[in-house]
Amino acid sequence: MTIFKSHLYDMGAYKPPLEGRDPHSYLLLDFNERTLPVGDAVREALIAYINAGRLQMYPSYGDIVERIAAYAKVPAEQVMITNGSDQGIDLVFRATCAPGDEVIIPQPSFAIYEQIAKVEGQEIISPFYTKEGGYPVKDVMVAITDKTRLIVVSNPNNPCGTLVSRSEVLALAKAAPEAAILVDECYFEYSKTTVSDLVAQYPNIVITRTFSKTWGIPSLRLGYVVSAPANIKALLNVRGPYDVNQLAIVAANAVLDDTTSVEAYVTEVMDEAKPMLEGFLDRVAIPYWRSGANFIWMFPEDAAQVEEGLRKAGILVRPKADEKGRMGLRITIGTLEQTERLISVLGALLPG
Ligand SMILES: Cc1ncc(COP(=O)(O)O)c(C=O)c1O
Repeated sequence: MTIFKSHLYDMGAYKPPLEGRDPHSYLLLDFNERTLPVGDAVREALIAYINAGRLQMYPSYGDIVERIAAYAKVPAEQVMITNGSDQGIDLVFRATCAPGDEVIIPQPSFAIYEQIAKVEGQEIISPFYTKEGGYPVKDVMVAITDKTRLIVVSNPNNPCGTLVSRSEVLALAKAAPEAAILVDECYFEYSKTTVSDLVAQYPNIVITRTFSKTWGIPSLRLGYVVSAPANIKALLNVRGPYDVNQLAIVAANAVLDDTTSVEAYVTEVMDEAKPMLEGFLDRVAIPYWRSGANFIWMFPEDAAQVEEGLRKAGILVRPKADEKGRMGLRITIGTLEQTERLISVLGALLPG
Protein backbone atom coordinates (compact mmCIF):
# COMPACT_ATOMS: atom_id res chain seq x y z
CA MET A 1 0.00 0.00 0.00
CA THR A 2 1.42 3.39 -0.97
CA ILE A 3 -0.07 6.81 -0.33
CA PHE A 4 1.22 8.26 -3.60
CA LYS A 5 0.70 6.83 -7.08
CA SER A 6 2.63 3.57 -6.92
CA HIS A 7 4.77 4.15 -10.05
CA LEU A 8 6.34 7.22 -8.39
CA TYR A 9 8.11 4.93 -5.90
CA ASP A 10 9.77 2.99 -8.70
CA MET A 11 11.00 5.97 -10.74
CA GLY A 12 14.54 7.34 -10.79
CA ALA A 13 14.87 11.04 -9.98
CA TYR A 14 16.33 13.60 -12.39
CA LYS A 15 19.35 14.66 -10.38
CA PRO A 16 21.69 16.99 -12.22
CA PRO A 17 25.17 17.15 -10.58
CA LEU A 18 24.72 20.52 -8.88
CA GLU A 19 26.93 20.13 -5.82
CA GLY A 20 30.43 21.58 -5.61
CA ARG A 21 29.98 23.95 -8.54
CA ASP A 22 31.90 26.88 -7.10
CA PRO A 23 32.24 29.61 -9.74
CA HIS A 24 35.27 30.96 -7.90
CA SER A 25 37.11 27.63 -8.14
CA TYR A 26 35.91 26.41 -11.54
CA LEU A 27 35.11 27.65 -14.99
CA LEU A 28 31.56 26.29 -15.25
CA LEU A 29 31.03 24.82 -18.70
CA ASP A 30 28.68 22.09 -17.51
CA PHE A 31 25.16 23.58 -17.43
CA ASN A 32 24.95 25.72 -20.57
CA GLU A 33 24.69 28.79 -18.39
CA ARG A 34 25.94 32.23 -19.25
CA THR A 35 29.58 32.14 -18.16
CA LEU A 36 29.70 35.77 -16.99
CA PRO A 37 27.77 37.11 -14.00
CA VAL A 38 24.93 39.57 -14.59
CA GLY A 39 25.75 43.28 -14.62
CA ASP A 40 25.73 45.67 -11.66
CA ALA A 41 22.29 47.05 -12.55
CA VAL A 42 20.67 43.66 -11.92
CA ARG A 43 22.40 43.15 -8.58
CA GLU A 44 21.55 46.72 -7.54
CA ALA A 45 17.87 46.27 -8.48
CA LEU A 46 17.68 43.07 -6.39
CA ILE A 47 19.38 44.68 -3.39
CA ALA A 48 17.13 47.75 -3.66
CA TYR A 49 14.07 45.50 -3.70
CA ILE A 50 15.22 43.61 -0.61
CA ASN A 51 16.10 46.85 1.18
CA ALA A 52 12.68 48.31 0.37
CA GLY A 53 11.22 45.97 3.00
CA ARG A 54 8.74 44.20 0.73
CA LEU A 55 9.74 40.56 1.13
CA GLN A 56 6.75 39.87 3.39
CA MET A 57 4.40 40.66 0.49
CA TYR A 58 3.13 38.24 -2.17
CA PRO A 59 4.52 38.92 -5.64
CA SER A 60 2.92 41.48 -7.94
CA TYR A 61 3.96 41.19 -11.54
CA GLY A 62 3.31 44.70 -12.91
CA ASP A 63 3.86 44.90 -16.65
CA ILE A 64 6.40 42.07 -16.97
CA VAL A 65 4.19 40.06 -19.33
CA GLU A 66 3.85 43.10 -21.62
CA ARG A 67 7.62 43.67 -21.49
CA ILE A 68 8.43 40.05 -22.31
CA ALA A 69 5.82 40.07 -25.08
CA ALA A 70 7.40 43.20 -26.58
CA TYR A 71 10.80 41.51 -26.43
CA ALA A 72 9.40 38.33 -28.02
CA LYS A 73 7.51 40.41 -30.63
CA VAL A 74 4.13 38.84 -29.83
CA PRO A 75 0.92 40.25 -28.26
CA ALA A 76 0.78 40.07 -24.45
CA GLU A 77 -2.26 37.72 -24.64
CA GLN A 78 0.10 35.12 -26.11
CA VAL A 79 2.47 35.12 -23.10
CA MET A 80 2.43 33.58 -19.63
CA ILE A 81 5.33 33.69 -17.15
CA THR A 82 6.46 30.49 -15.42
CA ASN A 83 8.83 29.35 -12.71
CA GLY A 84 11.67 28.57 -15.12
CA SER A 85 10.84 26.96 -18.44
CA ASP A 86 10.77 23.64 -16.56
CA GLN A 87 7.43 24.73 -15.13
CA GLY A 88 6.15 25.71 -18.59
CA ILE A 89 7.11 22.26 -19.89
CA ASP A 90 5.48 20.57 -16.89
CA LEU A 91 2.24 22.54 -17.39
CA VAL A 92 2.08 21.64 -21.07
CA PHE A 93 2.51 17.91 -20.36
CA ARG A 94 -0.03 18.00 -17.55
CA ALA A 95 -2.56 20.07 -19.44
CA THR A 96 -2.46 18.05 -22.67
CA CYS A 97 -2.14 14.40 -21.67
CA ALA A 98 -3.97 11.89 -19.49
CA PRO A 99 -2.32 8.67 -18.27
CA GLY A 100 -1.88 6.28 -21.19
CA ASP A 101 -1.81 9.02 -23.84
CA GLU A 102 1.13 8.92 -26.21
CA VAL A 103 3.89 11.53 -26.21
CA ILE A 104 6.71 11.59 -28.74
CA ILE A 105 10.05 12.61 -27.25
CA PRO A 106 12.96 12.13 -29.67
CA GLN A 107 16.15 11.10 -27.86
CA PRO A 108 18.73 11.95 -26.69
CA SER A 109 17.16 15.02 -25.14
CA PHE A 110 16.67 17.12 -22.06
CA ALA A 111 15.77 14.72 -19.22
CA ILE A 112 12.82 16.71 -17.86
CA TYR A 113 10.47 15.77 -20.72
CA GLU A 114 10.72 12.06 -20.00
CA GLN A 115 10.66 12.63 -16.26
CA ILE A 116 7.36 14.51 -16.44
CA ALA A 117 5.82 12.04 -18.90
CA LYS A 118 6.68 9.18 -16.53
CA VAL A 119 5.22 11.02 -13.53
CA GLU A 120 2.03 11.53 -15.53
CA GLY A 121 1.92 7.86 -16.60
CA GLN A 122 2.12 8.68 -20.31
CA GLU A 123 3.28 6.31 -23.07
CA ILE A 124 6.63 7.56 -24.35
CA ILE A 125 7.67 7.00 -27.97
CA SER A 126 11.28 7.90 -28.65
CA PRO A 127 12.72 7.94 -32.15
CA PHE A 128 16.42 8.87 -32.26
CA TYR A 129 18.23 11.94 -33.50
CA THR A 130 21.12 11.17 -35.82
CA LYS A 131 24.31 13.15 -36.27
CA GLU A 132 23.75 13.31 -40.03
CA GLY A 133 19.95 13.56 -40.19
CA GLY A 134 19.25 15.67 -37.08
CA TYR A 135 15.67 15.68 -35.74
CA PRO A 136 14.01 12.40 -36.78
CA VAL A 137 11.09 14.13 -38.46
CA LYS A 138 10.10 11.14 -40.65
CA ASP A 139 10.15 8.71 -37.69
CA VAL A 140 8.10 11.17 -35.64
CA MET A 141 5.53 11.44 -38.45
CA VAL A 142 5.29 7.65 -38.65
CA ALA A 143 4.85 7.44 -34.85
CA ILE A 144 1.84 9.78 -34.81
CA THR A 145 -1.38 7.92 -33.93
CA ASP A 146 -4.84 9.00 -32.77
CA LYS A 147 -3.50 8.66 -29.21
CA THR A 148 -0.65 11.14 -29.73
CA ARG A 149 -1.28 14.17 -27.55
CA LEU A 150 2.13 15.82 -27.49
CA ILE A 151 5.26 15.99 -29.66
CA VAL A 152 8.46 17.51 -28.29
CA VAL A 153 10.59 19.69 -30.53
CA SER A 154 13.53 20.83 -28.45
CA ASN A 155 14.89 23.60 -30.62
CA PRO A 156 17.84 23.52 -30.44
CA ASN A 157 18.03 20.23 -28.63
CA ASN A 158 20.07 19.53 -25.52
CA PRO A 159 22.60 17.78 -25.53
CA CYS A 160 23.22 17.62 -29.29
CA GLY A 161 22.45 21.24 -30.22
CA THR A 162 20.44 20.13 -33.27
CA LEU A 163 18.21 22.77 -34.85
CA VAL A 164 14.80 21.98 -36.33
CA SER A 165 13.74 24.17 -39.24
CA ARG A 166 10.54 26.21 -39.15
CA SER A 167 9.21 24.17 -42.07
CA GLU A 168 9.71 20.92 -40.13
CA VAL A 169 7.92 22.33 -37.07
CA LEU A 170 5.07 23.42 -39.33
CA ALA A 171 4.92 20.03 -41.02
CA LEU A 172 4.51 18.42 -37.58
CA ALA A 173 1.88 20.96 -36.51
CA LYS A 174 -0.11 20.14 -39.66
CA ALA A 175 0.42 16.38 -39.40
CA ALA A 176 -0.86 16.21 -35.82
CA PRO A 177 -3.45 18.98 -35.45
CA GLU A 178 -4.95 17.27 -32.38
CA ALA A 179 -1.61 17.08 -30.58
CA ALA A 180 0.37 19.83 -28.87
CA ILE A 181 3.70 20.59 -30.51
CA LEU A 182 5.91 21.65 -27.61
CA VAL A 183 8.66 23.79 -29.09
CA ASP A 184 11.29 24.31 -26.41
CA GLU A 185 13.15 27.49 -27.38
CA CYS A 186 15.30 27.56 -24.25
CA TYR A 187 18.35 28.59 -26.33
CA PHE A 188 16.47 30.97 -28.66
CA GLU A 189 18.85 33.91 -28.13
CA TYR A 190 21.70 31.75 -29.44
CA SER A 191 19.82 29.95 -32.23
CA LYS A 192 17.73 32.95 -33.33
CA THR A 193 15.25 30.36 -34.65
CA THR A 194 11.63 30.68 -33.57
CA VAL A 195 8.06 29.91 -34.55
CA SER A 196 6.64 32.56 -32.21
CA ASP A 197 5.08 34.41 -35.15
CA LEU A 198 3.02 31.29 -36.01
CA VAL A 199 1.24 30.57 -32.73
CA ALA A 200 -1.93 32.49 -33.58
CA GLN A 201 -2.27 30.60 -36.86
CA TYR A 202 -1.33 27.19 -35.39
CA PRO A 203 -3.05 26.85 -32.00
CA ASN A 204 -1.42 23.48 -31.39
CA ILE A 205 2.05 25.10 -31.13
CA VAL A 206 3.21 25.91 -27.60
CA ILE A 207 6.62 27.51 -27.08
CA THR A 208 8.60 27.56 -23.86
CA ARG A 209 11.46 29.98 -23.25
CA THR A 210 13.65 31.02 -20.35
CA PHE A 211 15.69 33.71 -18.65
CA SER A 212 18.08 31.00 -17.43
CA LYS A 213 20.52 30.55 -20.27
CA THR A 214 21.38 33.80 -22.01
CA TRP A 215 20.13 36.31 -19.48
CA GLY A 216 22.14 34.90 -16.60
CA ILE A 217 19.47 34.43 -13.90
CA PRO A 218 18.80 30.65 -13.69
CA SER A 219 19.01 30.85 -9.89
CA LEU A 220 15.91 33.07 -9.85
CA ARG A 221 13.79 30.76 -12.07
CA LEU A 222 11.92 32.69 -14.73
CA GLY A 223 10.57 31.30 -17.96
CA TYR A 224 7.60 31.98 -20.19
CA VAL A 225 5.17 30.25 -22.52
CA VAL A 226 4.13 31.66 -25.89
CA SER A 227 0.98 30.25 -27.47
CA ALA A 228 -2.44 31.21 -28.84
CA PRO A 229 -4.43 33.41 -26.39
CA ALA A 230 -6.98 30.67 -25.61
CA ASN A 231 -4.14 28.28 -24.65
CA ILE A 232 -2.55 30.90 -22.39
CA LYS A 233 -5.90 31.50 -20.70
CA ALA A 234 -6.29 27.75 -20.14
CA LEU A 235 -2.73 27.30 -18.81
CA LEU A 236 -3.18 30.21 -16.40
CA ASN A 237 -5.80 28.05 -14.69
CA VAL A 238 -3.14 25.41 -14.05
CA ARG A 239 -0.27 27.67 -12.97
CA GLY A 240 -0.51 29.01 -9.43
CA PRO A 241 -1.00 32.78 -9.01
CA TYR A 242 2.35 33.22 -7.17
CA ASP A 243 4.48 30.52 -8.78
CA VAL A 244 6.97 33.06 -10.08
CA ASN A 245 8.84 34.81 -7.29
CA GLN A 246 9.20 38.58 -7.06
CA LEU A 247 13.01 38.66 -7.23
CA ALA A 248 12.83 36.95 -10.62
CA ILE A 249 10.57 39.77 -11.83
CA VAL A 250 12.87 42.47 -10.44
CA ALA A 251 15.87 40.88 -12.15
CA ALA A 252 14.01 40.32 -15.42
CA ASN A 253 12.99 43.97 -15.55
CA ALA A 254 16.63 44.94 -15.03
CA VAL A 255 18.00 42.59 -17.70
CA LEU A 256 15.35 43.70 -20.17
CA ASP A 257 16.56 47.29 -19.65
CA ASP A 258 19.90 46.26 -21.11
CA THR A 259 19.41 43.87 -24.00
CA THR A 260 22.51 45.30 -25.73
CA SER A 261 24.97 43.67 -23.36
CA VAL A 262 23.16 40.34 -23.71
CA GLU A 263 23.36 40.64 -27.51
CA ALA A 264 27.09 41.43 -27.26
CA TYR A 265 27.63 38.33 -25.12
CA VAL A 266 25.69 36.14 -27.58
CA THR A 267 27.69 37.53 -30.51
CA GLU A 268 30.99 36.79 -28.77
CA VAL A 269 29.88 33.23 -27.92
CA MET A 270 28.30 32.32 -31.25
CA ASP A 271 30.36 34.27 -33.79
CA GLU A 272 33.80 34.13 -32.20
CA ALA A 273 34.22 31.53 -29.45
CA LYS A 274 32.15 28.78 -31.09
CA PRO A 275 33.94 28.84 -34.48
CA MET A 276 37.23 28.87 -32.58
CA LEU A 277 36.29 25.71 -30.64
CA GLU A 278 34.92 24.01 -33.77
CA GLY A 279 38.13 24.87 -35.64
CA PHE A 280 40.17 23.29 -32.84
CA LEU A 281 38.01 20.12 -32.78
CA ASP A 282 38.33 19.82 -36.57
CA ARG A 283 42.13 20.16 -36.36
CA VAL A 284 42.48 17.49 -33.67
CA ALA A 285 39.82 15.30 -35.34
CA ILE A 286 37.47 15.04 -32.35
CA PRO A 287 33.96 14.26 -33.66
CA TYR A 288 31.14 16.55 -32.52
CA TRP A 289 27.51 17.33 -33.37
CA ARG A 290 26.70 20.56 -35.23
CA SER A 291 25.07 22.84 -32.68
CA GLY A 292 22.73 25.82 -32.96
CA ALA A 293 23.26 26.70 -29.29
CA ASN A 294 25.95 27.75 -26.81
CA PHE A 295 27.25 24.24 -26.30
CA ILE A 296 28.89 21.45 -28.25
CA TRP A 297 28.60 17.71 -27.71
CA MET A 298 31.98 16.19 -28.53
CA PHE A 299 33.35 12.65 -28.47
CA PRO A 300 37.04 12.42 -27.59
CA GLU A 301 38.58 8.93 -27.53
CA ASP A 302 38.48 8.71 -23.72
CA ALA A 303 35.80 11.12 -22.52
CA ALA A 304 36.12 10.14 -18.85
CA GLN A 305 39.85 10.88 -18.86
CA VAL A 306 39.35 14.22 -20.63
CA GLU A 307 36.58 15.19 -18.19
CA GLU A 308 38.83 14.35 -15.25
CA GLY A 309 41.75 16.28 -16.74
CA LEU A 310 39.58 19.33 -17.35
CA ARG A 311 38.25 19.14 -13.79
CA LYS A 312 41.80 19.02 -12.40
CA ALA A 313 42.58 22.10 -14.49
CA GLY A 314 39.55 23.88 -12.98
CA ILE A 315 37.04 23.41 -15.83
CA LEU A 316 33.74 21.55 -15.35
CA VAL A 317 32.00 19.94 -18.35
CA ARG A 318 29.08 17.48 -18.56
CA PRO A 319 29.48 13.83 -19.56
CA LYS A 320 26.52 12.73 -21.71
CA ALA A 321 26.23 9.32 -23.38
CA ASP A 322 24.70 8.82 -26.82
CA GLU A 323 22.01 6.22 -27.49
CA LYS A 324 24.65 3.53 -28.05
CA GLY A 325 26.14 4.27 -24.64
CA ARG A 326 29.22 6.00 -26.04
CA MET A 327 30.28 8.73 -23.62
CA GLY A 328 30.66 12.26 -24.92
CA LEU A 329 31.20 15.61 -23.25
CA ARG A 330 28.72 18.45 -23.54
CA ILE A 331 30.73 21.62 -23.23
CA THR A 332 29.23 25.08 -22.77
CA ILE A 333 30.80 27.79 -24.87
CA GLY A 334 31.71 30.95 -22.99
CA THR A 335 33.69 34.04 -23.90
CA LEU A 336 36.68 34.05 -26.26
CA GLU A 337 39.11 34.18 -23.37
CA GLN A 338 37.41 31.26 -21.59
CA THR A 339 37.35 29.25 -24.81
CA GLU A 340 41.06 29.89 -25.38
CA ARG A 341 41.70 28.53 -21.88
CA LEU A 342 39.51 25.49 -22.61
CA ILE A 343 41.31 24.81 -25.89
CA SER A 344 44.71 25.10 -24.31
CA VAL A 345 43.82 22.60 -21.54
CA LEU A 346 42.10 20.25 -24.03
CA GLY A 347 45.14 20.42 -26.31
CA ALA A 348 47.44 19.38 -23.47
CA LEU A 349 45.15 16.50 -22.47
CA LEU A 350 44.79 14.87 -25.86
CA PRO A 351 47.14 12.06 -26.84
CA GLY A 352 50.05 13.14 -29.05
C1 LIG B 1 16.37 22.23 -23.65
C2 LIG B 1 16.14 22.79 -22.29
N1 LIG B 1 14.90 23.17 -21.96
C3 LIG B 1 14.63 23.69 -20.74
C4 LIG B 1 15.61 23.82 -19.78
C5 LIG B 1 15.21 24.34 -18.42
O1 LIG B 1 15.55 25.62 -18.20
P1 LIG B 1 14.92 26.48 -17.02
O2 LIG B 1 13.94 25.64 -16.27
O3 LIG B 1 16.07 26.90 -16.18
O4 LIG B 1 14.25 27.63 -17.70
C6 LIG B 1 16.92 23.43 -20.08
C7 LIG B 1 17.98 23.55 -19.08
O5 LIG B 1 19.06 23.03 -19.17
C8 LIG B 1 17.20 22.90 -21.37
O6 LIG B 1 18.42 22.52 -21.74
